[in-house]
Amino acid sequence: MANSHERMLIDQLSLVILMVGVYVMLGSVITTTVAQALPQALPGCPDKCGNLTIPYPFGIGANCHRAGFPIICNTSTETPTALWGNIIVTAFSLDEAEMQVLQYIARDCYDKQGNNTYNNDPWLSLPPPFTISDTKNKFIAVGCDTYALFKGFRGEERYITGCISSCDSLGSVDQDSCSGVGCCQTNIPSGMKNRTVELTSYNNHLDIWGFNPCSYAFIVEEGEFKFSNKTFQQLDSLENVPMILNWAIGVEEDPCDEAQKRQDYVCKGNSTCVNPINRSGYICKCKEGYEGNPYHPNGCQDIDECSLPNINPCTNGTCSNLPGSHNGTCSNLPGSHTCLCPAGYTIDSVNGTSCLKNTPPSNNNSLKISV
Ligand SMILES: *[C@@H]1O[C@H](CO)[C@@H](O)[C@H](O)[C@H]1NC(C)=O
Ligand SMILES: *[C@@H]1O[C@H](CO)[C@@H](O)[C@H](O)[C@H]1NC(C)=O
Ligand SMILES: *[C@@H]1O[C@H](CO)[C@@H](O)[C@H](O)[C@H]1NC(C)=O
Ligand SMILES: *[C@@H]1O[C@H](CO)[C@@H](O)[C@H](O)[C@H]1NC(C)=O
Ligand SMILES: *[C@@H]1O[C@H](CO)[C@@H](O)[C@H](O)[C@H]1NC(C)=O
Ligand SMILES: *[C@@H]1O[C@H](CO)[C@@H](O)[C@H](O)[C@H]1NC(C)=O
Ligand SMILES: *[C@@H]1O[C@H](CO)[C@@H](O)[C@H](O)[C@H]1NC(C)=O
Ligand SMILES: *[C@@H]1O[C@H](CO)[C@@H](O)[C@H](O)[C@H]1NC(C)=O
Ligand SMILES: *[C@@H]1O[C@H](CO)[C@@H](O)[C@H](O)[C@H]1NC(C)=O
Ligand SMILES: *[C@@H]1O[C@H](CO)[C@@H](O)[C@H](O)[C@H]1NC(C)=O
Ligand SMILES: *[C@@H]1O[C@H](CO)[C@@H](O)[C@H](O)[C@H]1NC(C)=O
Repeated sequence: MANSHERMLIDQLSLVILMVGVYVMLGSVITTTVAQALPQALPGCPDKCGNLTIPYPFGIGANCHRAGFPIICNTSTETPTALWGNIIVTAFSLDEAEMQVLQYIARDCYDKQGNNTYNNDPWLSLPPPFTISDTKNKFIAVGCDTYALFKGFRGEERYITGCISSCDSLGSVDQDSCSGVGCCQTNIPSGMKNRTVELTSYNNHLDIWGFNPCSYAFIVEEGEFKFSNKTFQQLDSLENVPMILNWAIGVEEDPCDEAQKRQDYVCKGNSTCVNPINRSGYICKCKEGYEGNPYHPNGCQDIDECSLPNINPCTNGTCSNLPGSHNGTCSNLPGSHTCLCPAGYTIDSVNGTSCLKNTPPSNNNSLKISV
């Protein structure tokens, strides 16, 4: 009895010791790679879903996220999937207050007789303050008998846009450009909070069925879709494409100077408030020379420029050795850095980044004024 109890205790103890060992190891790793170790999630909250970092105000679990920013990590999928509502999130950007999500492609397909065999009009509805980024996305339709509509709401105002693409053969399709023959595109209006995509055709793809039985339409992150004469085939097996959403703090116009005075102001230490153009609410950014998560209670941390290998002109801890100047020692300052110059040298007053030899009084008697 006593023996087995003792063994259990020892087992428990060694487990504790093992955990302490791991903890210490992690601790030392964290202190040596400060830049990567800045906390992104609230204390005690998971900060990753698979290899995707989830930064606060997003978060996994109760009390780990701001209201409206919950993420569920689905580990049943092949690689863990981060879900915001039913939308798959593939990247977060705090700096631009953006998230990259995957969106279904709208399809409209016909058989040889011109009978509709498949049609889906995917829709997306975003709660404020989330909107479809107008600057980072395009609306694209692909097909040779294709009439694509993009309908949405900006506030309570209805908005419809779209484009038409028509062509007779694969050979006539514009190669490598989405310009109206085989592929058309249009801009996204700003502030869209929900949208549906609708696809129709004029002639049920009858005369072009051999090479193009389907029309496709989708909103896609600019640069993530390139049209070519292989696109028809590729879209056949592609389920979704990346799109950029915007978010913010607050659901209505909220000028920073007023937000800053309130109790519920969320921008933490060493960060500033920014009102994004044509978007509601405000976002937080680390001040120049600081890094980290401006929404996190720890706030933004000073960047030690002198420890970075390639911040000009401080290279590996020494200031540049420009012609006519002398190496100085890089010295980190809160939010910036400077050069400490050796005796007989003065820091260059133009950009403060190199050490210039002290000039003797000039022999032409003109007064040297340095600013
Ligand atoms: C994350 O994981 C996926 C698949 O597991 C991989 O393709 C991707 O390169 C990884 N990203 C990073 C930043 O490691
Ligand atoms: C997680 O993924 C599995 C497998 O794809 C799926 O069956 C399940 O519904 C997903 N769970 C959630 C919450 O989306
Ligand atoms: C579809 O095609 C068949 C012949 O294959 C035809 O009988 C039918 O009327 C067509 N139209 C519809 C709506 O099914
Ligand atoms: C889009 O928003 C408008 C206005 O709030 C609403 O009337 C409409 O039902 C919404 N549509 C969808 C698909 O959510
Ligand atoms: C597709 O485009 C490539 C070059 O961009 C061309 O070599 C090829 O012949 C084209 N294919 C068809 C079927 O037009
Ligand atoms: C801002 O950064 C400085 C270091 O540059 C640090 O001393 C200070 O504690 C930070 N302020 C807050 C509120 O985090
Ligand atoms: C903001 O919206 C207005 C009106 O919709 C538009 O004219 C203007 O170009 C937009 N500005 C930016 C930077 O998107
Ligand atoms: C700075 O240090 C890195 C790594 O130690 C080295 O690869 C690089 O060549 C150095 N650059 C200069 C200008 O000395
Ligand atoms: C100044 O820096 C250059 C390049 O970084 C290096 O080759 C040189 O030895 C340095 N001179 C002194 C005096 O430190
Ligand atoms: C700093 O000033 C020197 C001349 O004093 C110039 O050669 C150098 O390019 C400047 N560096 C930067 C980063 O502006
Ligand atoms: C006089 O000295 C000043 C400052 O050293 C210099 O800028 C200027 O070009 C000189 N003038 C002549 C005529 O040498």
